[in-house]
Amino acid sequence: MFGKRGNSGGTPAAPHTHQAPRTYEAPGAGTAVLDAEKPISREPVERVSAPPLVAEAPPPPPPPAAARPAQPQRTRSDSYYDTKSQVFSALIETIDLSQLANMDQDSAREEIRDIVNDIIAIKNFAMSISEQEELLEDICNDVLGYGPLEPLLARDDIADIMVNGAQKVYIEVNGKVEQTNIRFRDNQQLLNICQRIVSQVGRRVDESSPICDARLPDGSRVNVIAPPLSIDGASLTIRKFKKDKLTLDQLVRFGAISPEGAEVLKIIGRVRCNVLISGGTGSGKTTLLNCLTSYIDKDERIITCEDSAELQLQQPHVVRLETRPPNLEGEGEITMRDLVRNCLRMRPERIIVGEVRGPEVFDLLQAMNTGHDGSMGTIHSNSPRECLNRIESMVAMGGFTLPQRTVREIIVGSIDVIVQATRLRDGSRRITHITEVIGMEGDVIITQDLVLYDMKGEDANGRIIGEHVSTGIGRPHFWDRARYYGEERRLATALEAIEKQAG
Ligand SMILES: Nc1ncnc2c1ncn2[C@@H]1O[C@H](COP(=O)(O)OP(=O)(O)O)[C@@H](O)[C@H]1O
Ligand SMILES: [Mg+2]
Repeated sequence: MFGKRGNSGGTPAAPHTHQAPRTYEAPGAGTAVLDAEKPISREPVERVSAPPLVAEAPPPPPPPAAARPAQPQRTRSDSYYDTKSQVFSALIETIDLSQLANMDQDSAREEIRDIVNDIIAIKNFAMSISEQEELLEDICNDVLGYGPLEPLLARDDIADIMVNGAQKVYIEVNGKVEQTNIRFRDNQQLLNICQRIVSQVGRRVDESSPICDARLPDGSRVNVIAPPLSIDGASLTIRKFKKDKLTLDQLVRFGAISPEGAEVLKIIGRVRCNVLISGGTGSGKTTLLNCLTSYIDKDERIITCEDSAELQLQQPHVVRLETRPPNLEGEGEITMRDLVRNCLRMRPERIIVGEVRGPEVFDLLQAMNTGHDGSMGTIHSNSPRECLNRIESMVAMGGFTLPQRTVREIIVGSIDVIVQATRLRDGSRRITHITEVIGMEGDVIITQDLVLYDMKGEDANGRIIGEHVSTGIGRPHFWDRARYYGEERRLATALEAIEKQAG
């Protein structure tokens, strides 16, 4: 309807807008090529969960933040672990673990506490009341919960937990990775806890099946890779589920984007630009995608496709889909590509793909190109330029044998905007580019940056200082689109303000 996908609507040329032809039509050959695709191998990762195709209701909310304060980290001595290990062994000898499994959590906890108190009294361990209380908690967590992980799981300020064998546990807080003093008794205890996590979704980790993905009851994503693949004990990675997703206004408060930049993003979301959010792991892609979706009109039919449901759309007319890993026999897998292709038969107005990783990119581009304006997705890359290259290689890896130029034309005809999220070296997360894909010059895709983050230096505390600037392009390429939705004034005001600040 707008410039790129047909008549240009007579947009006056911006100072350095390139006038490349932007009238790409989806080639008729596209479908034929599609059918001739070679199957591509998926990541060898075997996911544990076998979630239904249509995602379930979101996981129950965790207790309110006030009820789960960040526990001060106490340094535990070797003698503490030694005592704990002795008490634990005595407990295992005394108690019938299978009986515990039939009890409710509170009674099981009571039972364990009684026995442990007896053991401490009989064996005459010297410890203060508070030490004893700590030991009791610890042991209950080991037997009934996720052991040493419990205090970390209870903290809302942690984004990721990374366990590299029994002795090394790292967390990410405020964008920074730090080592904790949490330890597992030994690699066996760590493996047992991994086992407990994956058993909740009906799977096992062992030598014959050492890689597993799972989900905790609170929605956190878990990956386990066990020996012999992981050499120094099991490696466990948890991306904690954040129930309260950040909003664009919060991102402004954190300095991730300027107020005017946020205004541009809101308009981009509203006026149905096709958007890819590019960024590295943990750079804030999903957060940003979630933010953008909140500017979609209430009456649009939206279909989301994700590997593990994270997005929280506020609109009423949403269908949420989730991929499914193969079962133990290696059957029944539903890939992202299957979902995106099926989406097209569901009369979507917008398609949102949680993370584009493989050949589904081609289907998403086709969808963007054929009337599903306003589709969005995230992609793993470190700059808008790299994002474009990644798309090309994903198309190639999918076995589509299209000439490079054709692929680029499809990309140019499909994607309007790339938003780049970056985690800077001081741990802060920033939106570093809002970039338009505007056309081709020869065989090269031409882009123009609407907003850039200009790094100025560091302050005394090593925090990066900088500001969001405009590159002074005048009119953005999606101007007509903004005008159609009655947003051109708002857009002009936001861009002028960015330019003025920079000037
Ligand atoms: N601008 C930001 N400022 C502070 N924290 C952020 C910001 N963006 C995202 N986060 C947090 O960073 C973590 C990772 O974000 P996420 O969007 O899941 O990253 P990605 O999808 O790129 O892996 C989450 O805990 C999220 O709440
Ligand atoms: Mg993500």
